[in-house]
Amino acid sequence: MGSSRILRCGLILLASAQSCEHECTEGAEMALVQKRLSLQATEVKPWDRRVYLVGTSHKAGSQLLRNIMNWAFDTLGANMSCQKGGRGVPITSPHIHVDCDEHPLNIRFDNTVSGKDIVKLRNETRETGGFRGVMIIRDPFEMLISAYCYHHRGAEPDSILAPDNITKMPPAEGVPAMAPGMLGVIKMMEAATEVARPDVIVIRYEAITASSEMFNRTVKNIAQFLFRGEITHDQRLQILDAAVVEDLNREGDEEGMSFDIPSSSNIPNHTNDDLEMAEAREALELLPAAGLQVEFQHLRAQLGYY
Ligand SMILES: *[C@@H]1O[C@H](CO)[C@@H](O)[C@H](O)[C@H]1NC(C)=O
Ligand SMILES: *[C@@H]1O[C@H](CO)[C@@H](O)[C@H](O)[C@H]1NC(C)=O
Ligand SMILES: *[C@@H]1O[C@H](CO)[C@@H](O)[C@H](O)[C@H]1NC(C)=O
Ligand SMILES: *[C@@H]1O[C@H](CO)[C@@H](O)[C@H](O)[C@H]1NC(C)=O
Ligand SMILES: *[C@@H]1O[C@H](CO)[C@@H](O)[C@H](O)[C@H]1NC(C)=O
Repeated sequence: MGSSRILRCGLILLASAQSCEHECTEGAEMALVQKRLSLQATEVKPWDRRVYLVGTSHKAGSQLLRNIMNWAFDTLGANMSCQKGGRGVPITSPHIHVDCDEHPLNIRFDNTVSGKDIVKLRNETRETGGFRGVMIIRDPFEMLISAYCYHHRGAEPDSILAPDNITKMPPAEGVPAMAPGMLGVIKMMEAATEVARPDVIVIRYEAITASSEMFNRTVKNIAQFLFRGEITHDQRLQILDAAVVEDLNREGDEEGMSFDIPSSSNIPNHTNDDLEMAEAREALELLPAAGLQVEFQHLRAQLGYY
């Protein structure tokens, strides 16, 4: 009798106290199940109980959250996850690409999270343990200028978000040119936050990058929200110990992006130059006042950025 079968029978016993005659044929087997139940119970992982969602948006700190969660899930012994639409690098090691649409697994990375995705997942998991998730947000203006700097230096040349000649555009031309594409990204992100509660914790890029103290606090909050009493105190500490390499303020760590992902996935790097960012920030005032400027300001307010 395989351990998963013992576990399944044990859970059936626990859940409904009804005999599991289809699963366990003999009384002796039943006794065995009961005897081993306490041992087996500790093997139930949080993702056996419910679905986990990690949601990110372009230039909102997606690599940062992805990497932190990869450390967290690896630490807890997860080794299987899927990516929505097949996009993004897997958030469990080994990095095996699985499209959630084809093979929905219980740990899911949604690299373009939207309100619709969350509502759909909530509905789908309503009768099977529900789901818990974490998503990251960032000031929409910062996302826009970060996107400009990123695509301007030639990153992801095939991106549909950036105009073809973005690499040739100075900030005054390129920032407004990036704005319509990023507006769509930010609308999706904002809509996701509207329906996030009570299953999804929303963290801010500004908070997790403010200081090492804030980084630690945010990672602890994520682990507490996602795993609660289902992991041990030691596991909590292990998650933080592993994830600190992603802390952008960590002393002696220039880059932060130290997760051991295949080098091809880490190219181009996602860290922008501070000076380039400052120049691009000055071009924000060139957004058409009546249209894009108003829309961005509205979304900033909705997301709590004033
Ligand atoms: C994941 O872990 C399980 C149990 O430890 C193991 O049976 C399985 O082969 C692993 N899968 C991969 C892809 O490593
Ligand atoms: C919710 O899920 C059920 C099936 O589980 C489906 O029939 C229904 O259309 C879904 N509703 C929404 C709003 O997605
Ligand atoms: C980029 O392309 C647009 C339209 O295709 C054009 O109007 C603009 O002058 C180009 N800018 C540069 C810097 O090449
Ligand atoms: C953050 O956590 C790491 C790992 O546990 C620890 O080494 C570091 O001192 C902590 N930093 C702060 C500022 O608390
Ligand atoms: C990443 O790109 C930025 C902006 O071009 C650059 O300043 C930084 O040195 C790069 N980092 C690495 C590790 O290549």
